[in-house]
Amino acid sequence: MTTFRDDTASHPSLDYPGYKSTALRHPKQPLIALPHRLTEVTAPVLPESRFGELDHDLTRQHDGEPIGQRIIVHGHVKEDDGRPVPNTLVEVWQANAGGRYRHQVDNWPSPLDPNFSGGGRTITDDHGYFRFLTIRPGAYPWRNHPNAWRPAHIHFSLFGRAFTQRLVTQMYFPDDPLFGQDPIFTSIPAAARHRAISRFSLDRTQDNWALAFEWDIVLRGTEQTPFETDDDGDVA
Ligand SMILES: [Fe+2]
Repeated sequence: MTTFRDDTASHPSLDYPGYKSTALRHPKQPLIALPHRLTEVTAPVLPESRFGELDHDLTRQHDGEPIGQRIIVHGHVKEDDGRPVPNTLVEVWQANAGGRYRHQVDNWPSPLDPNFSGGGRTITDDHGYFRFLTIRPGAYPWRNHPNAWRPAHIHFSLFGRAFTQRLVTQMYFPDDPLFGQDPIFTSIPAAARHRAISRFSLDRTQDNWALAFEWDIVLRGTEQTPFETDDDGDVA
């Protein structure tokens, strides 16, 4: 297996045999370090005014409510020593309750939900905290191998302090029976897989309204969150 990652204990290999499309897109030559110029060291400007009031609430972006189980997804973005990472753009995208993306190449026979787009964003607060309100995504088939199904997951992207600092990963739900047959999940080194799984947090549920799942994102160190490449443009 080829990998150019600096921490193979935490992150998936860029070329993982069971995850077929990795063979088509992983680098086959050693990477070349390029000097960082203005484009690489400048950052997106993200004043509060750039965000809509409901950008973090995927259940209220249309006239009606989406079908599905309401959930609160929350957690902290942290450095390796536990320090919070404030003012970080956190973006999410996900399938609807039936496991269907609102995406032009997703056409498997599960209905679209007219009240669910599946995208949201927020900025971490002074404590590195983020919170989304959404619906629990469904599993979906993806044709990687016979009867292949993705476990329910939410895609996350984090921007750092420059355009080149972007991390992409997926959050999973506890005890999903589909973990063992999913090569995207199993491409994460076994000892690091639990870091990609959220935990149910009863204390953050909203009475008579929504369940809650907590997931902390750690940028570096021995407890760092497993990250994907940032060019994983498919909908899996
Ligand atoms: Fe996905």
